[in-house]
Amino acid sequence: MNPILKRTVSYFRPYWKLILLSALCSSVVGGMDGAFAYLVEPVLKKIFAGKDTGIFLLVPIGIIALFVIRGITRFTYDVSIKLAGQKVIQDIRNEVYASTVRMDMAFFNRRSSGELMSHATNDINAMQDGVASVVCGLFRDLLSACSLLGVIFYRNWQLAIFTFVVIPLTAYPAQLIGKKIKNASGRSLNIMGGITAILQETFSGIKVIKAFGLEPLATKRFQSANLEYFSQYRRFIKYESLAMPVSETIISFGIAGVVFFGGSQVISGHMTASEFFSFITAMVMVFNPIKKLQGAYNALQRSAGAAERVFKLLDEHRGIVDRPGAVDMGRSSGAVTFREVSFSYSETPTLQDINLSAESNQMVALVGPSGGGKSTLVSLLLRFHDVSSGSICIDGHDIRDLTLASLVSQIALVDQETTLFHASIASNILYGRPDAALDEVVAAARAAFAHDFIMQLPDGYDTSIGDRGVRLSGGQRQRICIARALLKNAPILILDEATSALDTESEQMVQQALDNLMINRTTFVIAHRLSTVLHADRIVVLDGGRVVENGTHDDLLNNSGLYSRLHSLQFTDRDAPGEVCEP
Ligand SMILES: Nc1ncnc2c1ncn2[C@@H]1O[C@H](COP(=O)(O)OP(=O)(O)O)[C@@H](O)[C@H]1O
Ligand SMILES: [Mg+2]
Repeated sequence: MNPILKRTVSYFRPYWKLILLSALCSSVVGGMDGAFAYLVEPVLKKIFAGKDTGIFLLVPIGIIALFVIRGITRFTYDVSIKLAGQKVIQDIRNEVYASTVRMDMAFFNRRSSGELMSHATNDINAMQDGVASVVCGLFRDLLSACSLLGVIFYRNWQLAIFTFVVIPLTAYPAQLIGKKIKNASGRSLNIMGGITAILQETFSGIKVIKAFGLEPLATKRFQSANLEYFSQYRRFIKYESLAMPVSETIISFGIAGVVFFGGSQVISGHMTASEFFSFITAMVMVFNPIKKLQGAYNALQRSAGAAERVFKLLDEHRGIVDRPGAVDMGRSSGAVTFREVSFSYSETPTLQDINLSAESNQMVALVGPSGGGKSTLVSLLLRFHDVSSGSICIDGHDIRDLTLASLVSQIALVDQETTLFHASIASNILYGRPDAALDEVVAAARAAFAHDFIMQLPDGYDTSIGDRGVRLSGGQRQRICIARALLKNAPILILDEATSALDTESEQMVQQALDNLMINRTTFVIAHRLSTVLHADRIVVLDGGRVVENGTHDDLLNNSGLYSRLHSLQFTDRDAPGEVCEP
């Protein structure tokens, strides 16, 4: 069996009871088609030969009874198989989400979020169509085709053989067309991913689009992506629409031949007229399930392309996982050592020979020109990426020997992005430690100077914030993020330009909140405003991926190196009170 099909089928295993029920009912439906075609012969014989008037009353009643039973079984069959199909799709979608969200950062760096969204929506929808049409049609159509074929052969096997020389002739063109559909559709869905990416970019960057008057340009870009999608889809429409007429035309030759051959057998007395009618009824009826089976085949081809992409995503190798025997270190003291650390995203090294240590509860500042590698350095501590060489230790444990869960529990991150989720404020803070009590949430919010403004919101802590928290200012959002980090209460804290996006006034509030957060934690502060790091235990200057200076503020000023140059730049550039960097 095709491996993709096999894998899809394996998802149905938990729902075997539903499948069994639908199989039972569909065998009733399928068997009835055969019974109907079979009964044509005795009924006609009685009517023609005996002029039996009693049968006139029985036939309509029989027809109604047949269709009532058929209706009930068909309903049961449809509902159970569609439910099973939906449950399978639900399982696959959950699995795709769970496995995607666990991927390492390198995975997310390689892909646009639009592409990932397209897998979780478009591709799974395409799979759903395939699963629905295939599993819904397959049993019933297969069984009714079999029962009807039985009648056909029973009535006249020579005529049957003649007929089925014709049918395989339709299979080959249908298969060919099915393959073309698969190719064309695979591409159109890939381009749909491009469209989703543009949409996503547009809505998250709508401010810039408006401010720069980019609407016409963005519209043009979208239109050309859409046009490309259309031209791919046009091929797909052509092939899909071609499949039916081609096979039907081929079938018509067969029907003509069968009518001619059968009719001459009746005339020569080899077959009765009622047998011939029963044969023709079965033959006319059998093309319906066979055509549907062909349609299911095409739908299967189409969803196979989508399933292939979904399974490829599920099989994606996760680079950063727990090592066998990885340990849970409990709560560390927060002593961090970088030893001879080098790292590169591509061929050119991003960080080289970094040696750096922070003792428990120390504050280490990372400063230097942008692109120097500061964010990359702290991301290595979280194992967003693994070092290319060298090692990073927490309390003497190499972080690659810890379980990821244990590592992540040591560290809280507050960065420039102020990421809030579409949920209440309380839930957003609770993401720091989901099992915390509500009074701990409030205490964290107080320490983050967020409590007062939260209480002024319409529903207090239950106020729901939109997906980008539009109703809050940057400083308010950041203080919620700080409350979240406070609640997590991790021994190591990373502040990556946490106040850079804020205005001076909210920066002061946020800085106070951060000062609370830093108490009794080892803190790595990345800041481009040197005024915020004057009191650091150690200041590390990174430039071009190397540590160029390392010491206290006073040491570095005396060095008259890069730090003192940056310092004097900021001192002379800024004359606003409160921004002056001199102690
Ligand atoms: N995800 C990434 N993929 C490839 N290169 C990256 C990535 N992130 C950062 N870089 C590159 O690594 C270098 C250091 O970046 P970064 O650590 O963000 O510096 P900083 O935080 O000091 O401004 C830059 O040259 C940047 O272009
Ligand atoms: Mg940075």
